[in-house]
Amino acid sequence: MQIPEKGTLPAEILAEMQAAQTGDTPWLEGKTWSLQYYVDDEHHELLKAAFGQYFSNNYINPFLFPSLLKMEKEVVGMAANLLHGDENTVGTMTSGGTESILLAMYACREWARKHKPSIKKPEIVAPRTIHPAFDKAAHYFGLTLKKAPVFENMEADVAAMERLISKNTILLAASAPSFANGVLDPIPDIGKLAGRHGLLLHVDACVGGFMLPWVEKLGRKLPAWDFRVPEVTSMSADLHKFGFGAKGASVVLYRDVQLFENQIFITTEYSGGIFATATMLGTRPGGPIAAAWAGLQHLGQEGFLKNARDMLAATDRLRAGLEAQPEIFIIGNPCMNVLSFATRHNRPDLFAVADFLEKKGWVVDRQQLPNSIHLTVFPYNIPVIDNYVADVRTALDWAKAHPEASGEGNAALYGLLARLPLRGMVKDNIRRLFVETYAGKSARTDPDFEEKTESVEQRKSWMGRLNRLLAWWERNLKR
Ligand SMILES: Cc1ncc(COP(=O)(O)O)c(C=O)c1O
Repeated sequence: MQIPEKGTLPAEILAEMQAAQTGDTPWLEGKTWSLQYYVDDEHHELLKAAFGQYFSNNYINPFLFPSLLKMEKEVVGMAANLLHGDENTVGTMTSGGTESILLAMYACREWARKHKPSIKKPEIVAPRTIHPAFDKAAHYFGLTLKKAPVFENMEADVAAMERLISKNTILLAASAPSFANGVLDPIPDIGKLAGRHGLLLHVDACVGGFMLPWVEKLGRKLPAWDFRVPEVTSMSADLHKFGFGAKGASVVLYRDVQLFENQIFITTEYSGGIFATATMLGTRPGGPIAAAWAGLQHLGQEGFLKNARDMLAATDRLRAGLEAQPEIFIIGNPCMNVLSFATRHNRPDLFAVADFLEKKGWVVDRQQLPNSIHLTVFPYNIPVIDNYVADVRTALDWAKAHPEASGEGNAALYGLLARLPLRGMVKDNIRRLFVETYAGKSARTDPDFEEKTESVEQRKSWMGRLNRLLAWWERNLKR
């Protein structure tokens, strides 16, 4: 592949891209239940215009673009206010939840190096439902992430967290709420635990940060989950989720500047001059900051409340519709418009139900530990709630009439993945899939791969089926 020798007219390029997009998931039709945050066409067009106005700005030097700096500070200020920070609360915008969490974990590690120098191998304790961004942070920054079991309702088990605290622990983390099940961890109790052991506490409100405040304003009672809990030292909240900004926008907030200042990176020895950044990126796009700011201005509290009211009412209807099916239960007690469900004793087989729903055109988010189907309710899902519940009913009947379906197609593969004891093998295969996606079929990071799996017998029994799973993933990645 090489850059085309001759240029093409903009209209032709855009037409080609548009044609290619017809193969993408048509999420606005309402059959997708995650990832695509969207209010309405007017808001969407505003985000595009605001993003476009700043698309060429390189915000690596905030002082070159005071208008962007003002917008960033205002977005951070509005987020701090929403999450009950005070005049000392400080933070930055970032490119997304992962960057917010990476930065917070990095800042906490640096803080601990100064304030707890005897700790050489810092540890984080979190419920096992915590987002993988924390695993990534641990992996990148040489931290150990200890994961505590959770209760059956998927809430953090605070006593189990306490048992994992050691002399090396610097930080506790918890979710408000978790992505998979929409379950809020008991932040006040985790706060007390942090207080008793003198630990930092990060609340990951990437999903709930711009939604739970409206849930509460609408009169639904929740335990405190933000800076109202005095032991919370940092938080992450995503603008590109329920802040309804454009992709590439989140905030990381700290209770005070002593923790925040550790986030800033400075080197004075670079031939290009003194180099300093407050976030992870070098070149930093202005577009997401401008779009997030514009989005907040456009919706205002009134708009957020209206959207929250609509999404919550639809979630209630969805939840009631699902709970009316005797074979189904909702996992835990979801605190907002994010929930997951499963079949009782896996009868009928949940992944057979999922396969049927997929044949009906729904995009199904299959989850594990426990096996469940994820649903986030967005404004564009509201018109299809009743259709979905009706299709779930039909899917249940179909799966009951076809018990053999659990051993076929994707149901068999997902069932296998959920039970697969050789997680290292799954990791190796997925790494290979990524390498092949980017580097081509012939590439292998690890030529000994096949010899390294647990035993020849295990390999023979799992390998073929796992390869089918990977083939399926590959097909779907290329869709
Ligand atoms: C609870 C939670 N935390 C963190 C993240 C990471 O956010 P991002 O995908 O924007 O990096 C997500 C993403 O879904 C999330 O749900």
